Amino acid sequence: MEKDSLLPNDIARLIELVRERGLPQHVAIIMDGNGRWAKKRGLPRTAGHQAGTQTAERLIRFAGRDLKLPYLTLFAFSTENWARPTEEVDFIMDLLDKFITEKLAEFEREGVHVNVLGDMTPLPDKLRQRVDQAVRETAGNSRLVLNIALNYGSRQEIIRACRDVAKRVASGEVDPAKIDEQAITTSLYTSEIPDPDLIIRTSGEMRLSNFLLWQAAYTELYFTDTLWPDFGPDELVRAIAEYQERERRYGSVEDAE
Ligand code: IPE
Ligand code: IPE
Ligand code: MG
Repeated sequence: MEKDSLLPNDIARLIELVRERGLPQHVAIIMDGNGRWAKKRGLPRTAGHQAGTQTAERLIRFAGRDLKLPYLTLFAFSTENWARPTEEVDFIMDLLDKFITEKLAEFEREGVHVNVLGDMTPLPDKLRQRVDQAVRETAGNSRLVLNIALNYGSRQEIIRACRDVAKRVASGEVDPAKIDEQAITTSLYTSEIPDPDLIIRTSGEMRLSNFLLWQAAYTELYFTDTLWPDFGPDELVRAIAEYQERERRYGSVEDAE
Protein backbone atom coordinates (compact mmCIF):
# COMPACT_ATOMS: atom_id res chain seq x y z
CA MET A 1 0.00 0.00 0.00
CA GLU A 2 1.45 3.35 -0.95
CA LYS A 3 1.76 5.82 1.85
CA ASP A 4 -0.76 8.42 0.74
CA SER A 5 -3.44 5.79 0.27
CA LEU A 6 -6.93 7.06 1.05
CA LEU A 7 -7.91 3.99 2.94
CA PRO A 8 -8.43 2.84 6.48
CA ASN A 9 -6.87 -0.47 7.53
CA ASP A 10 -9.87 -2.77 7.14
CA ILE A 11 -10.38 -1.79 3.52
CA ALA A 12 -6.67 -2.12 2.97
CA ARG A 13 -6.94 -5.76 4.10
CA LEU A 14 -9.91 -6.39 1.83
CA ILE A 15 -7.93 -4.94 -1.08
CA GLU A 16 -5.07 -7.29 -0.37
CA LEU A 17 -7.51 -10.16 -0.31
CA VAL A 18 -9.17 -9.33 -3.65
CA ARG A 19 -5.76 -8.77 -5.19
CA GLU A 20 -4.58 -12.17 -3.99
CA ARG A 21 -7.68 -13.84 -5.40
CA GLY A 22 -7.01 -12.33 -8.81
CA LEU A 23 -8.50 -9.05 -9.94
CA PRO A 24 -10.78 -8.76 -12.93
CA GLN A 25 -8.81 -7.22 -15.77
CA HIS A 26 -11.50 -4.81 -16.82
CA VAL A 27 -14.27 -3.19 -14.76
CA ALA A 28 -16.81 -0.95 -16.49
CA ILE A 29 -19.22 1.29 -14.61
CA ILE A 30 -22.55 2.85 -15.57
CA MET A 31 -22.39 5.88 -13.33
CA ASP A 32 -26.09 6.47 -12.71
CA GLY A 33 -28.16 8.33 -10.11
CA ASN A 34 -26.64 11.82 -10.07
CA GLY A 35 -30.02 13.49 -10.64
CA ARG A 36 -31.75 11.53 -7.89
CA TRP A 37 -28.90 12.19 -5.49
CA ALA A 38 -29.37 15.93 -6.04
CA LYS A 39 -33.16 15.75 -5.87
CA LYS A 40 -33.00 14.03 -2.48
CA ARG A 41 -31.08 17.05 -1.22
CA GLY A 42 -33.34 19.63 -2.84
CA LEU A 43 -30.54 20.58 -5.24
CA PRO A 44 -30.58 21.01 -9.02
CA ARG A 45 -29.58 17.95 -11.09
CA THR A 46 -26.36 19.72 -12.03
CA ALA A 47 -25.22 19.55 -8.40
CA GLY A 48 -25.52 15.78 -8.70
CA HIS A 49 -23.28 15.76 -11.76
CA GLN A 50 -20.77 17.90 -9.89
CA ALA A 51 -20.76 15.48 -6.95
CA GLY A 52 -20.60 12.54 -9.35
CA THR A 53 -17.45 13.93 -10.90
CA GLN A 54 -15.76 13.90 -7.51
CA THR A 55 -16.75 10.27 -7.09
CA ALA A 56 -15.21 9.47 -10.47
CA GLU A 57 -11.98 11.27 -9.55
CA ARG A 58 -11.68 9.36 -6.30
CA LEU A 59 -12.42 6.05 -7.95
CA ILE A 60 -9.92 6.51 -10.77
CA ARG A 61 -7.20 7.33 -8.26
CA PHE A 62 -8.17 4.35 -6.14
CA ALA A 63 -8.38 1.94 -9.07
CA GLY A 64 -4.95 2.88 -10.37
CA ARG A 65 -2.99 3.51 -7.22
CA ASP A 66 -4.46 1.21 -4.58
CA LEU A 67 -6.15 -1.56 -6.48
CA LYS A 68 -3.86 -1.61 -9.51
CA LEU A 69 -6.67 -2.51 -11.82
CA PRO A 70 -5.51 -2.67 -15.46
CA TYR A 71 -8.66 -1.34 -17.21
CA LEU A 72 -11.45 0.90 -15.94
CA THR A 73 -14.27 2.15 -18.17
CA LEU A 74 -16.66 4.89 -17.08
CA PHE A 75 -19.91 5.62 -18.94
CA ALA A 76 -20.04 9.41 -18.81
CA PHE A 77 -22.53 10.39 -21.52
CA SER A 78 -24.67 8.28 -23.82
CA THR A 79 -25.84 8.95 -27.37
CA GLU A 80 -29.34 9.20 -25.86
CA ASN A 81 -28.34 11.77 -23.22
CA TRP A 82 -28.54 14.57 -25.83
CA ALA A 83 -32.31 14.33 -25.29
CA ARG A 84 -31.91 16.04 -21.90
CA PRO A 85 -32.55 19.77 -21.41
CA THR A 86 -29.89 21.91 -23.12
CA GLU A 87 -28.76 23.48 -19.85
CA GLU A 88 -28.06 20.06 -18.37
CA VAL A 89 -26.21 18.85 -21.47
CA ASP A 90 -24.14 22.06 -21.58
CA PHE A 91 -23.33 21.70 -17.90
CA ILE A 92 -22.14 18.12 -18.37
CA MET A 93 -19.98 19.09 -21.37
CA ASP A 94 -18.39 21.91 -19.34
CA LEU A 95 -17.86 19.60 -16.42
CA LEU A 96 -16.13 17.01 -18.59
CA ASP A 97 -13.92 19.72 -20.04
CA LYS A 98 -12.94 20.96 -16.57
CA PHE A 99 -12.47 17.42 -15.33
CA ILE A 100 -10.04 16.49 -18.09
CA THR A 101 -8.22 19.83 -17.89
CA GLU A 102 -7.73 19.59 -14.14
CA LYS A 103 -6.84 15.92 -14.07
CA LEU A 104 -4.39 15.75 -16.94
CA ALA A 105 -1.30 16.40 -14.82
CA GLU A 106 -2.40 13.82 -12.28
CA PHE A 107 -3.09 11.26 -15.02
CA GLU A 108 0.39 11.84 -16.29
CA ARG A 109 1.89 11.47 -12.82
CA GLU A 110 -0.13 8.39 -11.92
CA GLY A 111 0.43 6.58 -15.20
CA VAL A 112 -3.19 6.78 -16.39
CA HIS A 113 -3.67 6.19 -20.10
CA VAL A 114 -6.85 7.95 -21.27
CA ASN A 115 -8.92 6.46 -24.06
CA VAL A 116 -12.32 7.52 -25.33
CA LEU A 117 -15.13 5.34 -26.57
CA GLY A 118 -17.72 7.08 -28.70
CA ASP A 119 -18.16 9.59 -31.48
CA MET A 120 -16.33 12.79 -30.57
CA THR A 121 -17.45 14.74 -33.66
CA PRO A 122 -20.63 16.32 -32.20
CA LEU A 123 -18.89 17.48 -29.02
CA PRO A 124 -18.17 21.18 -28.45
CA ASP A 125 -14.84 22.06 -30.14
CA LYS A 126 -13.10 22.91 -26.90
CA LEU A 127 -14.01 19.60 -25.29
CA ARG A 128 -13.05 17.65 -28.39
CA GLN A 129 -9.64 19.30 -28.42
CA ARG A 130 -9.21 18.64 -24.72
CA VAL A 131 -10.09 14.98 -25.22
CA ASP A 132 -7.62 14.70 -28.11
CA GLN A 133 -4.93 16.28 -25.97
CA ALA A 134 -5.57 13.91 -23.06
CA VAL A 135 -5.50 10.86 -25.34
CA ARG A 136 -2.32 12.05 -27.05
CA GLU A 137 -0.44 13.10 -23.94
CA THR A 138 -1.23 10.00 -21.92
CA ALA A 139 -0.70 7.49 -24.73
CA GLY A 140 2.61 6.29 -23.26
CA ASN A 141 1.17 5.55 -19.80
CA SER A 142 0.43 2.01 -18.78
CA ARG A 143 -0.53 1.70 -15.12
CA LEU A 144 -4.26 2.11 -15.65
CA VAL A 145 -6.14 2.33 -18.93
CA LEU A 146 -9.07 4.66 -18.30
CA ASN A 147 -11.74 4.49 -20.98
CA ILE A 148 -14.22 7.33 -20.92
CA ALA A 149 -17.40 6.42 -22.79
CA LEU A 150 -18.51 9.79 -24.09
CA ASN A 151 -21.29 10.21 -26.62
CA TYR A 152 -21.17 6.44 -26.60
CA GLY A 153 -23.94 4.12 -27.80
CA SER A 154 -23.38 0.46 -28.35
CA ARG A 155 -25.78 0.11 -31.29
CA GLN A 156 -24.15 3.07 -33.04
CA GLU A 157 -20.77 1.47 -32.39
CA ILE A 158 -21.94 -1.80 -33.96
CA ILE A 159 -23.42 0.04 -36.97
CA ARG A 160 -20.09 1.81 -37.44
CA ALA A 161 -18.29 -1.53 -37.29
CA CYS A 162 -20.69 -3.00 -39.88
CA ARG A 163 -20.01 -0.08 -42.21
CA ASP A 164 -16.31 -0.61 -41.79
CA VAL A 165 -16.60 -4.31 -42.61
CA ALA A 166 -18.93 -3.53 -45.56
CA LYS A 167 -16.31 -1.17 -46.99
CA ARG A 168 -13.67 -3.87 -46.74
CA VAL A 169 -16.02 -6.30 -48.49
CA ALA A 170 -16.83 -3.77 -51.22
CA SER A 171 -13.14 -3.19 -51.88
CA GLY A 172 -12.56 -6.92 -52.21
CA GLU A 173 -10.31 -7.03 -49.16
CA VAL A 174 -12.67 -9.28 -47.18
CA ASP A 175 -14.67 -12.29 -48.34
CA PRO A 176 -18.22 -12.06 -46.82
CA ALA A 177 -18.04 -15.77 -45.96
CA LYS A 178 -14.98 -15.01 -43.81
CA ILE A 179 -16.60 -12.35 -41.64
CA ASP A 180 -16.17 -13.57 -38.08
CA GLU A 181 -16.23 -12.17 -34.53
CA GLN A 182 -12.74 -10.85 -34.97
CA ALA A 183 -13.78 -8.82 -38.01
CA ILE A 184 -16.38 -7.02 -35.88
CA THR A 185 -14.35 -6.63 -32.70
CA THR A 186 -11.44 -5.01 -34.53
CA SER A 187 -13.83 -2.33 -35.81
CA LEU A 188 -15.27 -1.44 -32.40
CA TYR A 189 -14.08 1.47 -30.24
CA THR A 190 -12.84 -1.19 -27.84
CA SER A 191 -10.59 -2.98 -30.34
CA GLU A 192 -7.54 -2.54 -28.09
CA ILE A 193 -9.34 -3.37 -24.85
CA PRO A 194 -10.36 -6.74 -23.38
CA ASP A 195 -14.09 -7.32 -22.86
CA PRO A 196 -15.27 -6.15 -19.45
CA ASP A 197 -15.19 -8.87 -16.81
CA LEU A 198 -17.53 -6.91 -14.59
CA ILE A 199 -20.09 -4.19 -15.28
CA ILE A 200 -21.36 -2.23 -12.30
CA ARG A 201 -24.47 -0.08 -12.48
CA THR A 202 -25.37 2.23 -9.64
CA SER A 203 -28.76 3.70 -8.63
CA GLY A 204 -30.87 0.55 -8.72
CA GLU A 205 -31.64 0.49 -12.45
CA MET A 206 -31.18 -2.98 -13.89
CA ARG A 207 -30.48 -2.38 -17.53
CA LEU A 208 -27.53 -1.74 -19.81
CA SER A 209 -28.90 1.40 -21.53
CA ASN A 210 -26.99 0.78 -24.78
CA PHE A 211 -23.65 0.17 -23.05
CA LEU A 212 -21.12 -2.36 -24.41
CA LEU A 213 -23.79 -4.72 -25.75
CA TRP A 214 -21.41 -6.72 -27.92
CA GLN A 215 -18.58 -6.71 -25.39
CA ALA A 216 -20.81 -7.76 -22.48
CA ALA A 217 -21.74 -11.14 -23.97
CA TYR A 218 -20.17 -12.92 -20.98
CA THR A 219 -19.66 -10.07 -18.54
CA GLU A 220 -20.71 -10.46 -14.92
CA LEU A 221 -23.21 -7.79 -13.85
CA TYR A 222 -23.40 -6.08 -10.47
CA PHE A 223 -26.28 -3.79 -9.58
CA THR A 224 -26.39 -1.61 -6.50
CA ASP A 225 -28.97 0.84 -5.15
CA THR A 226 -26.19 3.25 -4.18
CA LEU A 227 -26.47 6.49 -6.14
CA TRP A 228 -23.32 7.32 -8.09
CA PRO A 229 -22.17 10.28 -5.93
CA ASP A 230 -22.28 7.96 -2.89
CA PHE A 231 -20.35 5.12 -4.54
CA GLY A 232 -17.01 4.75 -2.79
CA PRO A 233 -13.86 2.67 -3.24
CA ASP A 234 -15.12 0.28 -0.54
CA GLU A 235 -18.13 -0.65 -2.64
CA LEU A 236 -15.97 -1.21 -5.70
CA VAL A 237 -13.90 -3.63 -3.66
CA ARG A 238 -17.07 -5.36 -2.43
CA ALA A 239 -18.37 -5.66 -6.00
CA ILE A 240 -15.08 -7.25 -7.02
CA ALA A 241 -15.19 -9.60 -4.04
CA GLU A 242 -18.67 -10.71 -5.12
CA TYR A 243 -17.49 -11.12 -8.70
CA GLN A 244 -14.71 -13.40 -7.46
CA GLU A 245 -17.31 -15.72 -5.90
CA ARG A 246 -19.03 -16.23 -9.23
CA GLU A 247 -18.40 -19.09 -11.57
CA ARG A 248 -17.97 -18.04 -15.17
CA ARG A 249 -18.94 -20.97 -17.31
CA TYR A 250 -19.12 -19.50 -20.82
CA GLY A 251 -21.75 -22.04 -21.77
CA SER A 252 -19.70 -25.01 -20.65
CA VAL A 253 -20.05 -27.13 -17.51
CA GLU A 254 -18.06 -27.01 -14.32
CA ASP A 255 -16.08 -30.23 -14.63
CA ALA A 256 -16.01 -31.03 -18.30
CA GLU A 257 -14.85 -34.64 -18.75
C1 IPE B 1 -25.98 9.70 -14.53
O1 IPE B 1 -26.89 10.24 -13.65
C2 IPE B 1 -25.23 10.75 -15.32
C3 IPE B 1 -25.56 10.80 -16.75
C4 IPE B 1 -26.38 10.01 -17.37
C5 IPE B 1 -24.90 11.83 -17.55
P1 IPE B 1 -28.34 10.70 -14.11
O2 IPE B 1 -28.26 12.12 -14.54
O3 IPE B 1 -28.89 9.77 -15.12
O4 IPE B 1 -29.14 10.60 -12.75
P2 IPE B 1 -30.62 10.03 -12.55
O5 IPE B 1 -30.67 8.69 -13.18
O6 IPE B 1 -31.53 11.00 -13.23
O7 IPE B 1 -30.80 9.99 -11.07
C1 IPE C 1 -26.97 5.67 -18.65
O1 IPE C 1 -27.74 6.35 -17.72
C2 IPE C 1 -25.95 6.60 -19.24
C3 IPE C 1 -24.89 7.04 -18.35
C4 IPE C 1 -24.71 6.68 -17.12
C5 IPE C 1 -23.94 7.96 -18.92
P1 IPE C 1 -29.15 6.99 -18.11
O2 IPE C 1 -29.66 7.64 -16.89
O3 IPE C 1 -29.01 7.83 -19.32
O4 IPE C 1 -30.00 5.71 -18.50
P2 IPE C 1 -31.57 5.44 -18.53
O5 IPE C 1 -32.20 6.55 -19.32
O6 IPE C 1 -32.06 5.45 -17.11
O7 IPE C 1 -31.72 4.09 -19.14
MG1 MG D 1 -29.96 8.08 -15.00
